[in-house]
Amino acid sequence: PSPLAGRDCLTLAEFSPQEVRLILDEAVKIKGLQKARIPYRPLRGRTLAMVFQKPSNRTRVSFEVGMYQLGGHALSLSPQEIQMGKRESPSDTGKVLTRYIDAIMVRTFDHAELEELAAAAEVPVINGLTDTHHPCQALADLLTVREQFGRVEGTKIAYIGDGNNVAHSLAIGCALTGAKLSIAHPEGHGPDEDVIRLSSELGEPPKLTQDPEEAVAEAQVVYTDVWASMGQEAEAEERRRKFAPYQVDERLMSLAADDAIFLHCLPAHRGEEVTADVIDGPRSRVFDQAENRLHAQKALLYLLLS
Ligand code: CP
Ligand code: NVA
Repeated sequence: PSPLAGRDCLTLAEFSPQEVRLILDEAVKIKGLQKARIPYRPLRGRTLAMVFQKPSNRTRVSFEVGMYQLGGHALSLSPQEIQMGKRESPSDTGKVLTRYIDAIMVRTFDHAELEELAAAAEVPVINGLTDTHHPCQALADLLTVREQFGRVEGTKIAYIGDGNNVAHSLAIGCALTGAKLSIAHPEGHGPDEDVIRLSSELGEPPKLTQDPEEAVAEAQVVYTDVWASMGQEAEAEERRRKFAPYQVDERLMSLAADDAIFLHCLPAHRGEEVTADVIDGPRSRVFDQAENRLHAQKALLYLLLS
């Protein structure tokens, strides 16, 4: 049996460095099989429920297609269906889905709701994004870095912008794999202290600065995300003003390493956190990164369910 069988993936911090490496190794294998069009269906007859309280493209499609390619089936439950926390508690949702389903993916607002559901569910629970964590994104990010540079350990990554869910999971992922992360953020928008503390327990915590130029110096990866996340729409205007000096443009990219690549979890806003010439330019790997959600999550599903 897999050493990860039956476990949850809520923050990535539940895994050891060896276990994260195992997931990435498995992702490389599964990607190779898929590229060679060799069928690999170890999850025949198994099912995944996907509970969505927020919209999605990548997460929805990559989990559903991934489950199908592994021989299983996924059902997508929209915010109108389960209405978690309103029509039914997260705990009852977890208990009921346990009776039908082999694993549960949840995308919601409050991370505590995910924890409540996971505590009640007797099957593996995977975080498909909460306000504070996005571990599946971090797995795809690390896979993309590994493909590009042949390793993750020791690579220098700069994250520019909001200290949000994506930044938090990247910080945990970098601590677990030995990548060196710098985060440049406006005052009052740094990553949560809890996440900094957690990353320092797992490995090297991110270096924090308010200066994007300092963060990108020698960086091989320049990463950004939206300035207003899902649920922060009312703050979008104010954030546009506050984050303007944190836009990733050609000038900032020119201050990074010569071979630096650009990453973004998507969806992106051209002209806000990144200029069109950077995200659509030769250094951008954002669509490889989006594709890697599929391969990384197939590896995760396989390891949690076998
Ligand atoms: N990056 C990501 O999670 O995309 P979606 O919100 O479209 O799933
Ligand atoms: N930080 C963004 C990521 C979207 C994939 C959000 O939470 O909306």
